[in-house]
Amino acid sequence: MTKDAKDFATLHQIVRAARENLGDNAWDYIVGGADTETTIKRNRHALDTLAFRPRVLNDVTGLDISSTLFGQKLRIPVVLAPIGSLQDLHPDGGAGTARAAAEFGTISILSSVCKPGLEAVADEAPGENRIFQLYVRGDDAWVDDFATRAIAGNYTAFCMTVDLDYYGRRERDIAKGHMSTSRKTMANNEDYQKSLSWDQVKRFKDTHDIPLMLKGIATAEDAARAVELGVDGIYVSNHGGRQLDHGRGGADVLPEVVEVAGGKAQIILDGGIMRGTDVVKAMALGADAVAIGRLEAFGMGAAGQAGVVRVLELLETEIQICLGLLGVTGYGELDKSYLHQDVSLTQPHVLSAFPLLDEDNY
Ligand code: FNR
Repeated sequence: MTKDAKDFATLHQIVRAARENLGDNAWDYIVGGADTETTIKRNRHALDTLAFRPRVLNDVTGLDISSTLFGQKLRIPVVLAPIGSLQDLHPDGGAGTARAAAEFGTISILSSVCKPGLEAVADEAPGENRIFQLYVRGDDAWVDDFATRAIAGNYTAFCMTVDLDYYGRRERDIAKGHMSTSRKTMANNEDYQKSLSWDQVKRFKDTHDIPLMLKGIATAEDAARAVELGVDGIYVSNHGGRQLDHGRGGADVLPEVVEVAGGKAQIILDGGIMRGTDVVKAMALGADAVAIGRLEAFGMGAAGQAGVVRVLELLETEIQICLGLLGVTGYGELDKSYLHQDVSLTQPHVLSAFPLLDEDNY
């Protein structure tokens, strides 16, 4: 039974409620990753091996935990990652997450393979705190059409996902013979994504007047190339470990990207972000914001729009406490000196940030 979202006092209760509400196919679609799921584990490992070096005896009564991305104010530096087929988790689909972002005060990124689609979501959440994400399944004219519609729909930025030239083998789905709605939607015209190159990035920048973000950057080399072409947002991601297996953890990639970007592009990180402490670690490493994927999906599965808002509220509380206990009043005071590379005390897995869950059920 769906609970009142305000009753969730911790994030793990939201995960548990999502598990109870969702069938096995929807659940496995969310939590699963490619092949051995090592990349998923590395996402958590990269965060878990960072310990804090707090400072004390600073006045931390006035905290500012907000941030900005593409000129939009974020109540916390956490945006909602694009997720295909949210409608399989809750009937409101992408409209629910867009409304949740507007209600809370952050940005949602709408996937091109999520219902009810670009225009309907713009109508449901008319503010500017939305970004549109595209999987390329057509020629230049096809891409241009989406860009024009995103501009008309008041989307703040355009996000091109570039780490899906081939669809990763998600064995939880394959073993059951289950094909997710997103997978079915994307099965046609895959060659357009496979043949995507930097030329098209340049062409997009030359053609369209909307900030461009590349999602799926995983090296300093590619980040440097993106900056050269004037890309506005570099979204460090390994697709939540759903694409290339044995990739590096997102938080391990972040520092080299921040360094080469040199402030010329905004940097977003995702991959394993489950806790307020994860957000603060990313900010200390130089991110402008992080994105949550699975956590957003759990919120939707638990209680739709209200569930996603509750996820964000709980992250907000965790961020506040973390910053205060680090002895800083805002992210501007943070840098790598607040972090220490240490061993992880946790065996990493997709839900290892929630030790109070009984792992066997998940
Ligand atoms: C995704 N992701 C994704 N990315 C994208 O660019 N377009 C999409 O349609 C989807 N769909 C999708 C569905 C589901 C169920 C998941 C879990 C993920 C990847 C997503 O945007 C993000 O990169 C990861 O989810 C981040 O990792 P965490 O937060 O899930 O660990």
